[in-house]
Amino acid sequence: MAQVIHSIPELQKWSMDAKKQGKTVGLIPTMGFLHEGHLSLIDTARKNGADAIAVSIFVNPTQFGPNEDYDCYPRDFERDKALCESKDVDVIFAPAVNDMYAGDLTCWVQEEKISKGLCGLTRPIHFRGVTTVVAKLFNAALPDLAVFGQKDAQQAAVIKRMVRDLNFPVKIVVSPIIREESGLALSSRNKYLSEDEKQRALSISRSLHQAKAELENSQIDPETARLLVKESISAAGGIVDYVEVLDAETMLPRESPAVKHITIAVAAVFGKTRLIDNIQIKMR
Ligand code: PAJ
Repeated sequence: MAQVIHSIPELQKWSMDAKKQGKTVGLIPTMGFLHEGHLSLIDTARKNGADAIAVSIFVNPTQFGPNEDYDCYPRDFERDKALCESKDVDVIFAPAVNDMYAGDLTCWVQEEKISKGLCGLTRPIHFRGVTTVVAKLFNAALPDLAVFGQKDAQQAAVIKRMVRDLNFPVKIVVSPIIREESGLALSSRNKYLSEDEKQRALSISRSLHQAKAELENSQIDPETARLLVKESISAAGGIVDYVEVLDAETMLPRESPAVKHITIAVAAVFGKTRLIDNIQIKMR
């Protein structure tokens, strides 16, 4: 049985007790409505030595813009709890909004470079909300390591930078993207897609994989690959927000063509659903 904790002092105590017993505390921050992508992060935490594992489930209001889906974001705590228990998670941290945020909060954590591009352009307050809540979760769970998904590659890069620049004593591990057999990257928001939109959204993963294969065989250059992805998604009726070729380590534009480890990152809207995906490529 996983222990469900709602209060921050109680979570801090659990973590400190676990460390006193010589355990390595791993934190997996989530917004719930868990799927195999989230669950794979638990396996990654264990593979990296975590033997006291906390999953946080908190739909964080500060990372949603005023016209975004905070109110209708899917929630199912009982199902999430059962999934965590199937993975032998020790603690589920499920704070109420009031436990996490004082009504008159005036301190924020903000990364000022990596967070500005890509999703930051259309979601200007998003990453400030993410870095603030993740900093708060680190102070609440006091983890030795925390796992994030490559699915949200920009988020992972922003968090790594926050940890580096603010000296959080937390090892950040980034875990691979889990996809449906069709190629669609798992996401809690896939629930919003109709069957037709889902079929058309496969253009994202298909074109990313095609671009990767052609780039790795040196058949095309990165700009041609970028246009190939963009045009494939548009042809399938997706509204492209961005397709960018980036330095995979920083998620910033490549400083020079000598940077061979790249990520092609995509955001596109199908129907009313904004999807993100990316693929990493090692060019010759
Ligand atoms: P959420 O969207 O619930 O995702 C929680 C974690 O699961 C993130 O690190 C995300 O990258 C990872 N994840 C989601 N889908 C995945 C997939 N298909 N494969 C691998 N990993 C996947 O990201 C957030 O919540 C929030 O911004 C949070 C970090 C919890 C802060 O509120």
